Amino acid sequence: MNVGRRGFLGGIAAVVATAGGSQPVQQGKSALRIAHVGDPQFGFITSRPSMKHRAKERFEENYRDDLARLERALARMNELKPDLLVFGGDMTQRPGDIEKEWPALLKRVQVPFVVTPGNHDMGNRLTRENLERFRKVFGRDYGALDMKGWRVVAGNSQYWHKTEAKDEQATYEAWVKAELEEAKSRNGRVILATHIPPFAFASDEKDSYDNYPLAGRAARLEAYVACGARFFLTAHLHRLSVRGYRDLTMLGVEALCANFDARPPGFRLLEVADDFSYSWNFIAV
Ligand SMILES: [Fe+2]
Repeated sequence: MNVGRRGFLGGIAAVVATAGGSQPVQQGKSALRIAHVGDPQFGFITSRPSMKHRAKERFEENYRDDLARLERALARMNELKPDLLVFGGDMTQRPGDIEKEWPALLKRVQVPFVVTPGNHDMGNRLTRENLERFRKVFGRDYGALDMKGWRVVAGNSQYWHKTEAKDEQATYEAWVKAELEEAKSRNGRVILATHIPPFAFASDEKDSYDNYPLAGRAARLEAYVACGARFFLTAHLHRLSVRGYRDLTMLGVEALCANFDARPPGFRLLEVADDFSYSWNFIAV
């Protein structure tokens, strides 16, 4: 997988993050280190009254600020030298803009990376045009890799929603099934990632912009647990979100552009050891 220049050696796309309140990683253990960037979303727009500075009239100004912030984050990550960088998706506000700066930005990434595509990359209704544009810039939109004894499985959560690309959806469903089966042999050393979290607050909450469709959600969650996965990395919410489902720890990273919970923009560094102890620290930029 082109973890490197273009997602999965030929392409991946996926996520990650890190949060406080976690156990310290044991001394002497060889921890896997993953940097997770949530929602760079150059030009992020919202109509929420509490975020007037993100009104559409200020798109150009915010686009420049968001791009500059991403450049600072990349410089910081190149210093930190994580084993893997996971971009959580929503790379730009407008899908067509991913072709502008991202090809050059990716050349500056000095560590392996994956991208989990977001709804702003694929379209809230996944279109073939968006899918093909994404693949041209970032590589394949899902994939899995082995790193320091861990299996990282990076998915495209837009296939769970309305999609024009029905054949691609079927291929993806089969891939997920095979990957989760393969994950059963990993003794729990499995990290899953998608842009949208399975749920925002409660596993049985009603359908919204911020979760997987309720139809099939419980079965998906049970399948994640059954394969032994211990961590699930997400983005999309533009707020810190730490949740759990049975033995699955779900870490939702803040956005790099702007957050609804008034937290500062930044990314996280997840360090996870073989005994499942971990730290998930916020790095402001
Ligand atoms: Fe999103």
